[in-house]
Amino acid sequence: MPVHPIVLDVDTGTDDALAILYAVQHPDVDVRGISCVAGNASLEQVVANTHKVLDAASAPEIPVAAGAVKPLIERTRQEEAFHGEDGLGGIVLPGTERTPSRLTAVELLRQQIVDADTTVTLVGLAPQTNIAMLLTLHPEVADHLERILFMGGSAGTGNITAVAEFNVWQDPEAATCVIESGVPVTMYGLDVFTRLTVPQKHAERFAASDHPAQRLAGELLLRRGSRADGSQQEYVGQIGDAGALVYLTHPELFTTASHPTRVNLSGIGRGQTIVDRRTVAQDAAELGRDPWRTIEVVLDLDVTKAAQAFIDVMNAYAA
Ligand code: BDR
Ligand code: CA
Repeated sequence: MPVHPIVLDVDTGTDDALAILYAVQHPDVDVRGISCVAGNASLEQVVANTHKVLDAASAPEIPVAAGAVKPLIERTRQEEAFHGEDGLGGIVLPGTERTPSRLTAVELLRQQIVDADTTVTLVGLAPQTNIAMLLTLHPEVADHLERILFMGGSAGTGNITAVAEFNVWQDPEAATCVIESGVPVTMYGLDVFTRLTVPQKHAERFAASDHPAQRLAGELLLRRGSRADGSQQEYVGQIGDAGALVYLTHPELFTTASHPTRVNLSGIGRGQTIVDRRTVAQDAAELGRDPWRTIEVVLDLDVTKAAQAFIDVMNAYAA
């Protein structure tokens, strides 16, 4: 039996696609359902992209459900600048026969978590609106969750603002619901996300493959370039969201620490995850403040070995 039964929440997205390719191929991961949220592309596009990625991976039938079209409070602000209008950087994939679940994302997540034969890890790779609604409408899921592992936030700098990372910036209230939920939470933030890269020779090798999943992985990696200016894109090869899955399967390659963490909801810092890394913790009760939730934060990694873990799983598609 696979060691990691998971449900995935995605906004597919070039790197969500890499994460799906990794998760469905890894022998120790059992993807029980995928919920979609608007983010890198519109909700409709995210659902279609998710199905097409599952096709490329020749994945078995995995229920995919549509969820939130917008964040809890704000209007949606898509990440087109980086992922293209279609979310997959213009990669054209064949049409799909897969159809979305009749359940909403929240209903599907509840079903797959509560009805499971074991506790399940919820892996969030997108703005956390679906997850926040799940925890609010169905608090009973907490007892059935092993952990919520989310890609989002940062213990360092941001990408959308100086301090805010896209997924948390898009729906900071939802991220607050997740962190404050009482479920064990691990944050795989932007500071580690940007460091996990695959050498270009592997991306080119995969892109030239006859296997649809390998070819897609290669094409996606080749599109994960720097966007510093309008000049020619430089290969960067970040596996992005897929890194959170590599952490799930290979935690020994990463360094984590428990830190009180809170989402900044106001002003120019809105969307920042404030990770209190002070070694001498302040006593919140003494200071008359709300205690902050302590979560597990991924802070460091062995880049070479983590990249190899990703490459190994992509290699296995054509083994
Ligand atoms: C996150 O935002 C999206 O662009 C990526 O898919 C990733 O989940 C990085 O900030
Ligand atoms: Ca994503």
